[in-house]
This record gives sequence, structure tokens and C-alpha cells, in this order.
Amino acid sequence: MPAGDHHTGRQVFVDFECFKCHDVVGENFPAPEAEQGDVGPALSGMGGMHPAEYFVETIIDPNASVAWRLKHHKDEAKGYLGADGTSKMPSYNDSMTVRQLIDLVAYLKSLTEGGHQH
Ligand code: HEC
Repeated sequence: MPAGDHHTGRQVFVDFECFKCHDVVGENFPAPEAEQGDVGPALSGMGGMHPAEYFVETIIDPNASVAWRLKHHKDEAKGYLGADGTSKMPSYNDSMTVRQLIDLVAYLKSLTEGGHQH
């Protein structure tokens, strides 16, 4: 995975409205929308916890590893899955350019503070 630019990646995060489902402590994004029921985990502090490949897979194919994540989060009750049993996270495989993906992952890797816990 190339290094990418985390400043540009932050803008990708905003443009794709990831904040609608994910809180990032320390950022001034609009809060996740209440009517979506707090759908995704906070991403603060995630950067140090996973390799870049993990983030890439989450973004282009959330269902590839959602079972693993649910096992680790034990959060099924929180509504991470839709009625059909698949992740509520949309796939960005068709909407994001490779460049945007690389920069977005650099941004996620830069999130090393804010106490995300597994
Ligand atoms: C409609 C709501 C929604 C949107 C929009 C969304 N996500 Fe998610 N995301 C989720 C849910 C629900 C989960 C938990 C289930 C799962 O892991 O697939 C999740 C999981 C994740 C994870 C794994 C977190 C962990 O604890 O391992 C990452 C990373 C992530 N999302 C990044 C993003 C990024 C980057 C964007 C924007 C491009 C985005 N998400 C947009 C709902 C969303």
C-alpha cells in the first residue's frame, strides 16, 4: 500500500460522509446522525490497531471481514448488521477512486489518539 496523504484523506472522509456513521474523537465533523442509531463504531485511535490492508478491505468489501469484527466487538446487539445479516456499512468499491482509497487509508492510519478499544 503506498503511503498516501492523510490531509487529502481527511477530505475524502468528509466527501464520502463517513462521519454520518462514525464518530472520530477530536475532529469537528457533524455528529453521527441519530436516526441511523449510532450505526458504526468510533474510529478514533484505530490507526495503530490495524494494518492498512484491513482498512482497504473494510472500505471495498465490508462483508469480507464483518464476521471477524463482530466477534471482536461483540456488538451485534448494537445494530451493526441489517435485517439481511450483512454489514450496514456500504461498499465503496464502485464509487471511490484508487487514489481516494489510498489517501483515506492514510487518514485512518493517522488516527492514533482518542482511545478506540477492542
Ligand atoms: C451507513 C453507515 C456507514 C457509513 C456511511 C460508513 N460506515 Fe463504516 N461501518 C459501519 C458499520 C455499521 C460498521 C460495523 C460493521 C462492520 O464492521 O462492517 C462499520 C465499520 C467500519 C470500520 C471497521 C471498524 C472496526 O472497528 O474494525 C471501518 C474502518 C469503517 N467502517 C470505515 C468507514 C469509512 C472510511 C467510511 C466512509 C468511506 C465508512 N466507514 C462509512 C457503518 C458505516
